[in-house]
Amino acid sequence: MRLADYLDFVCDPGRDDVEGWLYPTDAYLMGVINDLQTGHGFRGDIVEIGAYKGKSAILLGFFPAAGESLTVCDIFDSGAMVSDGNAQENAAFYPGLHQADFEKNYLRFHDRLPRVHVGPSEELGKVVAAGSCRLVHIDGGHTYEVARADMETARRALGSGGVVVVDDWSSAHIPGVAMALWEQYLSGELTPLAFTKGKFYATWDPAGLTAGEVADAVADRAGIEVRSVVRLGRYVAASVTMTLGDWQRYNAGLRAVYSKLYAADGGASAPQMVGF
Ligand SMILES: C[S@@+](CC[C@H](N)C(=O)[O-])C[C@H]1O[C@@H](n2cnc3c(N)ncnc32)[C@H](O)[C@@H]1O
Repeated sequence: MRLADYLDFVCDPGRDDVEGWLYPTDAYLMGVINDLQTGHGFRGDIVEIGAYKGKSAILLGFFPAAGESLTVCDIFDSGAMVSDGNAQENAAFYPGLHQADFEKNYLRFHDRLPRVHVGPSEELGKVVAAGSCRLVHIDGGHTYEVARADMETARRALGSGGVVVVDDWSSAHIPGVAMALWEQYLSGELTPLAFTKGKFYATWDPAGLTAGEVADAVADRAGIEVRSVVRLGRYVAASVTMTLGDWQRYNAGLRAVYSKLYAADGGASAPQMVGF
């Protein structure tokens, strides 16, 4: 399968049966970031913290060029020791997660698995060389302590033109992620590039991508658009959404999937629905 086919798959709730949390806007926007980086000649590996059943890892698996690699990190069902807060979150949101589910999903779309580090993300410093990466997707533990450590891991791992993508950067039930993100901004070095409802895109490289070129590239891309440009202190960053027509199609697809699920079980298991 090609990247374009996977984007079509993620945009079609009737077909998308990979459970997880990747929505079309971010699938497209991560593609824009990847294209801009390769266009500039920024090279490096890709890292994902928090793979779950592979929804975003499958997307990232299309990005490495020759000589680059994807590493994903997750504790899956390893029973690895984590803090109480982290363990509580995992028990509440990811019960019954098996590494085998990730692998099965990933291999539906790619010929071979990425490098998989099974264990807490705090171990990544030992397996990812400083400055070796161009894209780090942070979507693991959402406590402040874990998110803060993951931001530091990303900062150390990213090299020239590197971009960090922070999931759940503004979700009310897990405010520690926002605190960890804005701490990096307030240190004076993290530059916002763009954001969606779900993810925040930024760089520590003053000679890397700019918010302006990301906004221009989004404007050229079918499926997504710049909804507004927002001033964030000394920077501006684009708020990116799906285009209205694409959103209406996607939403109609979701409604059709939901109504079938509700009809089948009276809505009892609705929270674990496809793509949501
Ligand atoms: C929100 S899910 C990831 C969603 C995924 N990116 C997707 O596209 O569906 C968070 C994942 O982080 C993992 N996780 C939680 N705490 C972690 C930690 N301290 N280190 C590594 N992974 C962790 C969980 O096991 C879970 O699979």
